[in-house]
Amino acid sequence: MVEDVADAILSSRYFVALTGAGVSAESGIPTFRGKDGLWNKYRPEELANPEAFAKDPEKVWRWYAWRMEKVFSAEPNKAHFAFAELEKMGLLKTLITQNVDDLHERAGSKNVLHLHGSLRVVKCTTCKNSFEIENPPAVPPLPKCEKCGSLLRPGVVWFGEMLPPDILERAFREVEVADLIIVAGTSAVVQPAASLPLIVKRHGGIVIEINPAETPLSSIADYSLRGKAGEVMEEILQWIRKVLS
Ligand code: APR
Ligand code: ZN
Repeated sequence: MVEDVADAILSSRYFVALTGAGVSAESGIPTFRGKDGLWNKYRPEELANPEAFAKDPEKVWRWYAWRMEKVFSAEPNKAHFAFAELEKMGLLKTLITQNVDDLHERAGSKNVLHLHGSLRVVKCTTCKNSFEIENPPAVPPLPKCEKCGSLLRPGVVWFGEMLPPDILERAFREVEVADLIIVAGTSAVVQPAASLPLIVKRHGGIVIEINPAETPLSSIADYSLRGKAGEVMEEILQWIRKVLS
């Protein structure tokens, strides 16, 4: 199966990828759903939405500062490095991710679309001020905008919020032209990300899923590789290197 996937990638015209929290699991970053997922311990309604932030900004900020700490101190894993290598080889055109960590970039990926924003970005709740951070803010006190004094918030997309329109537009354009997509580490239940692979499928493209578990995508995938993204992506990369050597 892995060699078929490697062949499919090598003969693809426009190969893209969609990743989810599962590709960062092997870097020690908890996923959201599944047995030890974040949404088992915390209620997303209490943390990852505008109403929760308005009600108790300190509680939400403390949770995000904890997640930032975990992400900023984590290292990319073999999955991140494999995607970056496939881009460097000119095979992977664009990597679309639902993840708010920067592990794809830190592994060397250049062309990354963050559908749900990034924990590296903090933005003002009032003016247009938005900037990247090296370290999580120490909360309390609540971080305030230097330009207008308003409360700052994490630069991520919360439940009920619009995705960044320009990024979403680009992601749809990518899957419109893609003839192959690898979907790795996502439960494929959150829209609009989950519909991106269906667009590739609809116009005759190949859908490859990498996930230890079944997902709603599994039934339409041309290949479903049941395994960890780090291991499977490494195997695919080895096959491709072997064919090209
Ligand atoms: N390799 C590949 N997949 C894995 C691994 C691994 N090592 N470990 C877990 N998985 C799979 C799980 O089986 C699951 O299908 O990763 C998936 C993680 O699913 P979620 O936790 O739902 O994460 P994701 O799909 O990225 O969530 C989408 O939901 O909460 C929102 O905005 C948040 O971007 C997130 C979105
Ligand atoms: Zn401001």
